[in-house]
Amino acid sequence: MDETNKFYNVGLLVVATIVVAKLISMLIMPRSTKRLPPVIKSLPLIGGLVRFLKGPIVMLREEYPKLGSVFTVNLVNRKITFFIGPEVSAHFFKASESDLSQQEVYQFNVPTFGPGVVFDVDYSIRQEQFRFFTEALRVNKLKSYVDQMVAEAEITAVLQMCSDFQDYFSKWGDSGEVDLKYELEHLIILTASRCLLGREVRDKLFDDVSALFHDLDNGMLPISVLFPYLPIPAHRRRDQARKKLAEIFSSIISSRKCAGKSENDMLQCFIESKYKDGRPTTDSEITGLLIAALFAGQHTSSITSTWTGAYLLKNKQFLSAVVEEQKNLMGKHGKKIDHDILSEMDTLYRCIKEALRLHPPLIMLLRSSHSDFSVRTREGKEYDIPKGHIVATSPAFANRLPHIYKNPDTYDPDRFSPGREEDKVAGAFSYISFGGGRHGCLGEPFAYLQIKAIWSHLLRNFELELKSPFPEIDWNAMVVGVKGKGDGAVQAEGTFCLISRKILVDKLAGLKLLLHVL
Ligand code: HEM
Repeated sequence: MDETNKFYNVGLLVVATIVVAKLISMLIMPRSTKRLPPVIKSLPLIGGLVRFLKGPIVMLREEYPKLGSVFTVNLVNRKITFFIGPEVSAHFFKASESDLSQQEVYQFNVPTFGPGVVFDVDYSIRQEQFRFFTEALRVNKLKSYVDQMVAEAEITAVLQMCSDFQDYFSKWGDSGEVDLKYELEHLIILTASRCLLGREVRDKLFDDVSALFHDLDNGMLPISVLFPYLPIPAHRRRDQARKKLAEIFSSIISSRKCAGKSENDMLQCFIESKYKDGRPTTDSEITGLLIAALFAGQHTSSITSTWTGAYLLKNKQFLSAVVEEQKNLMGKHGKKIDHDILSEMDTLYRCIKEALRLHPPLIMLLRSSHSDFSVRTREGKEYDIPKGHIVATSPAFANRLPHIYKNPDTYDPDRFSPGREEDKVAGAFSYISFGGGRHGCLGEPFAYLQIKAIWSHLLRNFELELKSPFPEIDWNAMVVGVKGKGDGAVQAEGTFCLISRKILVDKLAGLKLLLHVL
């Protein structure tokens, strides 16, 4: 009996201790009152990761109707909280770097861009470097690039980009088939090289520099996001290419400096840029900033050019409208194309913008949260987001929200026309192909200028027909674009072909187009 009592007492003591401990802990540490967002249901540990890697947009499409505009996915030891739609994403776009930062989530760019630039430096330095971008891409600079190019080429009042196009497209001949994806990729590198990297690269070193950029490109793989320094051949080639590019730009910079030569390009802007304390940029920083500019602007613009073409050729009413616009502008200005004339191409602008709404090449934007914050959804729910979460939004998903865009999956450039302006009606951050707010794209005007110049030239000079099926989306690419081999071989499966017939610019103004259909 004694033994039983003893056992009983010990048991009671243990239970009482647990209860008291629990009570004390409840008193000292009250239950979290945080209203956390709903979490995507998945298998423990790697469940969310598998779904995320299989296709983040598919995951968003499935979960948004169930969970609403704010929800979390657990990825192994990280939590990603999504903010979908303008009603909830203001903080994402407007928050200060100390609250929501890019540095950690975009760290994988560091070995590509190189040391001392962008995500390898503190925000205060990065801000200054973005100021160099802003200055290099101001309207007066864009205009002066154009004028300088014109003077160089000794073609009065014809955009040099277009004379590049002239040379480039002359190899197309009078008719035939081309792989549009491949051709536009190539053309964008040519024009970006001239405007950004400078005349020396474009005229003398184009092949070498393109090959090195190719190695940089191929060194940025999905695995690089998690392990940017993994010792794999692609990373080794990337590192060698980065070193070689630094040597090439160093030699260009010193020869410009020795000759006291100044050019109208982004390279020159970066050479002349100075930090607030008066320090000039180093050669290594200049190289890194140029690489960053090309990485930000090259694939994004070539992909957008290709989608624009695909949609125009599929939707004849919009193709007629942009051709008509070119005819009117030619009636008004003759063959001349310059910055201001490109700015008059509103119909073409809307057609590009709509292609970009449906296919933003950067499908996911990320930040790392350093402080707690709250958000209120359109339905009136309030959630608290703890610091430590990765926060994300998705242009590819948010640009197609049906409460913002009528028939969101339909290509309809007129949705941006005066009177409709669907992207403005729902307020800021309804159209986020270029991001927005604090880190909105600095190259947007440059990108439109470049894409308009290409399409203006094509529309004025060629009659085009889509020969292949409408292209598919290549979800596997880091910058999401058009599926296809992109090697220029028009017979290859999945290539995106056109049949073209050349038309003389002079004749176009008053001329009926010759349609050539296979
Ligand atoms: C169609 C073409 C382009 C698209 C769709 C695009 C898209 C974007 C997006 C979505 C962001 C925001 C990233 C974020 O919030 O995390 C961004 C930022 C940026 N873009 Fe672009 N971009 C394009 C062309 C260009 C070009 C041509 C340049 C430069 C020559 C450029 C330079 C930049 C820079 C420097 C930033 C960083 C701004 C900052 O963080 O303050 N982009 N771009």
